[in-house]
Amino acid sequence: MTPWILLVLAYLLGAVPTSLWVGKAVHGVDLREKGSGNLGATNAFRVLGWRSALPVALFDMFKGWLPAATFAGWGGGLDFGWTLAFGAAAIAGHVFSVFVGFRGGKGVATSAGVFLALAPLAVGLCIALFAVLVGVTRIVSVGSLAAAVALPILVAFTPHRGGEALLGFTVALAAFVVFAHRANVGRLLRGEENRFGRSRGAGQ
Ligand code: G3P
Repeated sequence: MTPWILLVLAYLLGAVPTSLWVGKAVHGVDLREKGSGNLGATNAFRVLGWRSALPVALFDMFKGWLPAATFAGWGGGLDFGWTLAFGAAAIAGHVFSVFVGFRGGKGVATSAGVFLALAPLAVGLCIALFAVLVGVTRIVSVGSLAAAVALPILVAFTPHRGGEALLGFTVALAAFVVFAHRANVGRLLRGEENRFGRSRGAGQ
């Protein structure tokens, strides 16, 4: 398959609005109108419960893992730059989904899937950091922001594919994920961020 078709496929896979479709199909709920309004596993957990949020989180990770792990091979052994492009396309699809008027989630689970394929030790440590911070603060965005900032540092000091190219990609991705959380940062600074069991600030 040509790389450009694979790039479009990576975007379309990333764009599958898992949380929205599960919310609508299983619960008859539009997640855009509930909780934070974000189309991600966190809001699925908040509004739909863990039985729906767990498959949403796993599939959102899979959307990033599959293109990053396999598409270069499907293209006949493409350069690592294409692997990064496939991962970036999947993350962009998740955040700016063509199926939801170019809205979506904040890219955390799909990025984790991409890095599971490229730097598994670093992403494993990020997931541990995320879990500890969410456990302590009960605020998912604190865990997401800390994991995003820690990822480039952890990638730099652990085995990973792609050498310096991956490091540059990771820094850009961390900045993007922090930017995607700008409304969360505002709520955190105002002391108004959603905690487990409470929802404020609908609409991002
Ligand atoms: O990964 C998204 C999470 O960090 C925040 O989600 O719904 O609280 O804005 P939410």
